Amino acid sequence: MKMAKKYVFPENFLWGGATAANQLEGATLADGKGWTTADTAKYEADPKLRMQQMIAPMTTAKVKDALVDKNGLYPKRYGIDFYHHYKDDIKLFAEMGFKTFRLSISWARILPNGDDQTPNEAGLQFYENVIDELLKYNIEPLVTLSHYEFPLALSFKQNGWESRKTIAAFEHYATILFKRFKGKVKYWISFNEMNIVMMTGYLSGGLLDDKKQTKTSLQANYLAMHHQLVAAARVTKKLHEIDPQAQMGSMILRLENYPATSKPADVLASLQSDQENFLMMDVLARGSYPSYAQRLFDQKNVAVDLTTEDIKILRENTCDFVAFSYYMSGIAGGQEDDDEVAGNSSLSKANPYLEKSEWGWQIDPVGLRITLNKMAERYQKPIFIVENGLGAHDKLTSDNEVHDSYRISYLKRHIEQIGEALKDGVDVIGYTPWGCIDLISASGNEMSKRYGFIYVDQDDQGHGSLKRYKKDSFSWYQHVIETNGREL
Ligand code: BG6
Repeated sequence: MKMAKKYVFPENFLWGGATAANQLEGATLADGKGWTTADTAKYEADPKLRMQQMIAPMTTAKVKDALVDKNGLYPKRYGIDFYHHYKDDIKLFAEMGFKTFRLSISWARILPNGDDQTPNEAGLQFYENVIDELLKYNIEPLVTLSHYEFPLALSFKQNGWESRKTIAAFEHYATILFKRFKGKVKYWISFNEMNIVMMTGYLSGGLLDDKKQTKTSLQANYLAMHHQLVAAARVTKKLHEIDPQAQMGSMILRLENYPATSKPADVLASLQSDQENFLMMDVLARGSYPSYAQRLFDQKNVAVDLTTEDIKILRENTCDFVAFSYYMSGIAGGQEDDDEVAGNSSLSKANPYLEKSEWGWQIDPVGLRITLNKMAERYQKPIFIVENGLGAHDKLTSDNEVHDSYRISYLKRHIEQIGEALKDGVDVIGYTPWGCIDLISASGNEMSKRYGFIYVDQDDQGHGSLKRYKKDSFSWYQHVIETNGREL
């Protein structure tokens, strides 16, 4: 292996990997779990069909028939059966040398209807087993309370996060977890990519009537946003009361949008894109709505129901660290007819200086260093990179190998830039590449779009042995961790 130049990763740097319950676990209705929006997301494109299929009673045979294929498999978004493989999978993470593992807890495994008073013990026990297994190998659990899913019963009851009542339900759910895992979980994240609730109103906002981009639905999305902000601050307070050693992070999807040209209008467009992207983090890391918020709301013709109590709770309970996902950069401003590329939340103008992934995501390691520097200046808090990676079509050879040099190259170039940011003085505390074991893609590509160091034998229809195989990137990442980022 070629010696790379020395970087400055701190000794306690948290190397690891990231996942989410609904893309990983499988066992959709096992041991008392309730339905979630993620379980039914295949109907998202057609709200009418979703309503017909999913309106209560949701556990009837009819609904099950609609969701289960003839082999009894849930064909979509139902994970890689981590629920039954977690011991073997964690053993592999430990073999790679993980210092941390990011998982999310499915709210509906703990409270099947979202607002039950008494928790489902089987659900709690499952997560306790997972956490204990991680701790056995000295792997710090990094737990997201809500990652792209919402208890469906609560969507039907109160249209998800549009309702202020959902704040109390979430606080109750989080309190149960904080009490149970006190002393075991040090790092928590309230919501995954919370700034994306504008685009994922159904999935993460639980908005049944999310009609996207219409006036009505945007209003509901912004209410959902505000209620999630207040909920995040409330659970930060709760966590600090219950377990003062534990830390709460806030997380956004970060997209660097460069000005299309040096034309002032394009530079302004880039600045405004940053403001919209950082809005929720500004509130949670700095403690109040930023100065630009009102004008943004006016332009979108939306309002939030900010109360005096909200102002106080937001001000007094800022997050302990800031976290973000980073996959690509984009372009702001420019001409209408400029080329466009896909993003994980929207279309962006193409950047002629960057290559693209198979899914059109523009690969930009330097953008990660830029983002890290911007966030360090803006928030002055420790920074955790909790998602990054390359989705690709991997091929398992007849010798059960996966030669994913493209993934190694992507991650190596990003880690180099983290090293540069550390030298810039940015306080980066950890790095958890997304989908460290292959799992279901969030944007609907099922299993074809893989991110892992570990290959899982399952196809887009949910068929396969579910056997795990180490890819070439497995031993590469193991060496990176072993040398604490000195050899890439
Ligand atoms: C992030 C999400 O936006 O991107 C993950 O937090 C998601 O849930 C990841 O899987 C990668 O996106 P995709 O669409 O390639 O799976």
